[in-house]
Amino acid sequence: MASSGQGPLTRLGRLLLDHRWGGQALICLQVSVLSGILLALQYNVAEPYYSTATIELVIPYGSFWRALHYYSSQGFLLLLFCHLAVVLWKGEHTYARPAWVRLTATVPVALLLMFTGYVLRGDATGEAAGAIAEHIARSIPVAGNFLNQLLFDVSASGARRIYANHLAGLVALGGFCAWPHLRRYTARWQDHLLLLMLLPALSILVAAPMEPDHVGLLHIGGPWFFLGLQELLRYLPVFWAGVAAPAAVIIALFALPDEKQGRRRWLLFICAWLAAYVVLSAISYWRI
Ligand code: HEM
Repeated sequence: MASSGQGPLTRLGRLLLDHRWGGQALICLQVSVLSGILLALQYNVAEPYYSTATIELVIPYGSFWRALHYYSSQGFLLLLFCHLAVVLWKGEHTYARPAWVRLTATVPVALLLMFTGYVLRGDATGEAAGAIAEHIARSIPVAGNFLNQLLFDVSASGARRIYANHLAGLVALGGFCAWPHLRRYTARWQDHLLLLMLLPALSILVAAPMEPDHVGLLHIGGPWFFLGLQELLRYLPVFWAGVAAPAAVIIALFALPDEKQGRRRWLLFICAWLAAYVVLSAISYWRI
């Protein structure tokens, strides 16, 4: 119960902890899927950049639908991070290990889903991101080529594999990971009207980014959540920067113990990792 003696910081903390981040993430995801279906009707996988650009010109309100897909997807990822952070902070729920791993696997799947979306855009950011991802996947010993063919395969099949994964493969995998969770917890559109008004308003006011080739540019910034990894690639061999470093935090999340003492240590590691990642991302951002 909120007592009248609570300070503003305590009340803000309570507000953040009680906020329905998961519900908002789900609403954003639904808007993203619906707007994505409209875009897919016009997208031509043989000409990624050209067809993305023509979406804005050919489909009625094309730039609005593109922006709606872009901002709802960004919203989904950010709100999912907030949802997970609050759940970890509260630490009120315990899961059997397989169920926990399945549920938290939604985070790397969501990141890959977003990432493939950037590549599909086919502009300078997308092309750079695709080339780097392929390079990273290939650096994995033994399974590297197979994983690259499964996930990206940009140099051999252009945007085709990425397109199939963005539209079907990753959506199905994410659905599988989240299914037991979403059968239990859901969200109703009528409870999130403010968000449902904000998304179209933002999409009308601010166009989704699109970057033509920058001739002579030495540093191309990838998607914002990829910047820290790009920066790390400057200092470490590809495998360590692109595979081992991100895998460390994901494994820490998967292996998070329930027991209090051990849990604290693992959470501290995750926080330190994230803090270092933010610093690397900021350095990378200043290079652009
Ligand atoms: C990343 C791993 C996830 C974990 C560990 C997690 C955990 C939880 C927990 C413990 C609750 C209950 C909260 C409470 O009782 O206060 C909850 C609620 C909820 N979750 Fe998740 N969740 C995850 C991912 C997702 C995803 C991917 C979605 C859908 C996009 C989602 C949607 C929801 C919804 C709609 C609720 C109902 C309460 C709310 O609106 O916040 N969750 N989640």
